[in-house]
Amino acid sequence: MKKLLTMVVLGAAATAAQAQEVKGNVDAAKDKVAMCIGCHGIPGYRASFPETYEVPMLGGQSAKYIENALKGYQKGERKHPTMRAIAASLTEQDIANLAAYYSQQNAETKPNSLK
Ligand code: HEC
Repeated sequence: MKKLLTMVVLGAAATAAQAQEVKGNVDAAKDKVAMCIGCHGIPGYRASFPETYEVPMLGGQSAKYIENALKGYQKGERKHPTMRAIAASLTEQDIANLAAYYSQQNAETKPNSLK
């Protein structure tokens, strides 16, 4: 969990021009998931900045959906400011890993049982 503090911004490395298929790695996602569970791990949790948002559950959604959503935040097609900042810090590989991770979870999986 301490890895959260050493989070490095690698976003710039993920050149959108590289249209190669990036394969998601569930284990590699676990470092990054640490920064998502604070919000996405709590059923019914609401973030209150800058207004009240209902935080969607990610577990069990399709990998493609999660990937598209995160890229949407990166590109600014999706507007939520916190998610935009988070998505900007992710590489294409990170996104593939996270999408793989969340898609193989089901809605009942307890996010705290990561380790
Ligand atoms: C500070 C709280 C917070 C953190 C941390 C956070 N999110 Fe989010 N996330 C949200 C909120 C709130 C929304 C809904 C925003 C909206 O309506 O666009 C959201 C939306 C999403 C969506 C779109 C889901 C959908 O059904 O539309 C994805 C995918 C997502 N987050 C992935 C992640 C990932 C992956 C991480 C970690 C790398 C992460 N989030 C970290 C609060 C957070």
